[in-house]
Amino acid sequence: MSPKTDNPSLQVNLGSLKLKNPVIAASGTFGYGEEYSGIIPLGSLGAIVTKGLSLEPRKGNPPPRLAETPAGMLNAIGLENVGLEIFLQEKLPFLRKARCPVLVNIFGSTVEEYAELAKRLSAVDGIAGLEVNISCPNVKAGGAIFAAEPKTVYKVISKIRRATSSFVMVKLSPNVADIGKIALAAEEAGADAVSLINTLTGLAIDVQTRTPVLGNITGGLSGPAIKPIGLRMVWQAAQVVRIPVVGIGGIVTAKDALEYLIAGATAIQVGTAHFIDPRAGLKIIDGIQRYLQANNFPDVASLVGSLKIKKDTGQPT
Ligand SMILES: Cc1cc2nc3c(=O)[nH]c(=O)nc-3n(C[C@H](O)[C@H](O)[C@H](O)COP(=O)(O)O)c2cc1C
Repeated sequence: MSPKTDNPSLQVNLGSLKLKNPVIAASGTFGYGEEYSGIIPLGSLGAIVTKGLSLEPRKGNPPPRLAETPAGMLNAIGLENVGLEIFLQEKLPFLRKARCPVLVNIFGSTVEEYAELAKRLSAVDGIAGLEVNISCPNVKAGGAIFAAEPKTVYKVISKIRRATSSFVMVKLSPNVADIGKIALAAEEAGADAVSLINTLTGLAIDVQTRTPVLGNITGGLSGPAIKPIGLRMVWQAAQVVRIPVVGIGGIVTAKDALEYLIAGATAIQVGTAHFIDPRAGLKIIDGIQRYLQANNFPDVASLVGSLKIKKDTGQPT
């Protein structure tokens, strides 16, 4: 064990991108940052990922678009967003003052749209990198089709790679057969990191009316209900890629975040938990720091991927 330190470092490196701590606000759950700015100091977070952005504005799906479920939530927002031009004119000036790296989450319905967005954002000041959403389950144009096959992941990410020299993180879907192969395809195509998981497709039914609760019929399940799936997939992806893995899914407390770090995530994202408590991210940062101190870790990096598994039984020690 490393020597005891009272002040363990929380800094993590996602390739070329340095974060002061491993806690990132997840896309679609943190607006464009401004919505939370009166409540928490945005500069305390490791980074912010903005709401998914497309070339043109989108209205999203018909309401109702949210439904509470046991230990989670279903959403079918349908990637509503202001589009590239308004983002640059009206949202980015505020985000430039956020004092933490801003990652722009992008999506398109064709490979060309993804590449065009990546190209147009790469020349823009105040953006630390891109998170490429190839995994939204709620819309046809959310790129989910790309996330399902290694070949299509490779195709879209290599085209984005040629379009930008910015940091590129690829957000993966849980709705796939072999997450390791998908993560490898993203790495081979030139991604700097992968983030996972996006939501799982779910259905809620109103038994009185015998109709779906959501206007879109199905929605994406997020929150504590999906944590074991996220953890398993992060662990599997981290076994096979060399680029950093960012863990997402049901992280509400520092303990949840620590589980992801131990499974192999270099950083984590907080989504649904911010709807319940806007200070969740800050509390998680604090809790990670206290855990590192209490357990004599000199830095958060030495915790990453430290899951102990007995080779002979496959059971954790
Ligand atoms: C209301 C809502 C909107 C979301 N919008 C996006 C989005 O625009 N782009 C994206 O990549 N993920 C989006 N997500 C997925 C989250 O970023 C995250 O991957 C997912 O919610 C799982 O994390 P959680 O359990 O911490 O919420 C959205 C999730 C929710 C709940």
